[in-house]
Amino acid sequence: MNSTRPIGIFDSGYGGLTVFKSIAALLPQYDYVYLGDNGRAPYGNRSFETVHEYTLECVEWFFSMGCPLVILACNTASAKALRNIQQLDLPRTAPDKRVLGVIRPTAEVIGNYTKTNSVGVLGTKGTINSGSYEIEIHKFFPQVKVHSLACPMWVPLVEYGEYQSSGADYFIQKYLDALLSKDSSIDTILLACTHYPLLMDKICKYLPEGIKVVAQGDIVANSLADYLHRHTEIAQLISQTGHTSFHTTDDTADFDAQGSIFFGREIKSRNEHFF
Ligand code: DGL
Repeated sequence: MNSTRPIGIFDSGYGGLTVFKSIAALLPQYDYVYLGDNGRAPYGNRSFETVHEYTLECVEWFFSMGCPLVILACNTASAKALRNIQQLDLPRTAPDKRVLGVIRPTAEVIGNYTKTNSVGVLGTKGTINSGSYEIEIHKFFPQVKVHSLACPMWVPLVEYGEYQSSGADYFIQKYLDALLSKDSSIDTILLACTHYPLLMDKICKYLPEGIKVVAQGDIVANSLADYLHRHTEIAQLISQTGHTSFHTTDDTADFDAQGSIFFGREIKSRNEHFF
């Protein structure tokens, strides 16, 4: 039985740490549980059914940890599993719990960054093929042209610790060139995968000056703060002792070593076996 009621932060692996870092900085008073499903990452090339099945298993694990609210800090899970979880699973099994994603809060603001009304969106195959960003961005910014591209090699570069290698440069330049060749007026590039900020230095190295690169951490953190402000009935359920625990479905030594670099603070994780 858990006495804390933390906010759950989920990702297929390390990427969610880039979002969690911003959330923890903005809202340090709450308790948190982070879970990386590193044992089954990457999710990006998997089917809708598989991403839904894996994500739901993880969400149920968060509920068993006492979380009243879970943030899917993963675009692929937000694109391929969130709607079913919100509309079909929660009403049946956990109507008092909330699960939120990262696509809607990002779509709500991304149009404010562009002056040319041309935005590039980079994500996993799953996120890009779902068309979620085009649909959501056009709800808020119908005038903005959205050019999307899947970068299937970028998540493995991060998950397998190759994000600083010279091999990474090849795949970073390749996808950026392909995106920019779609429209020379793109002035804003959204990193619509929470793993991609870990490649930020190399991404900036291969972009012409004047193009803004937007990561989601601060956007999602601000949106969560606003949500908790508007939904006091949820906010008051969350325990506030400033405690965080980290969990992974794979090797803890790897998670602690990589995760500590990405999170900017020492991490000691626990291994979870629930599948
Ligand atoms: N961080 C996940 C995202 O935002 C990566 C997905 C994956 O595991 O491929 O999409």
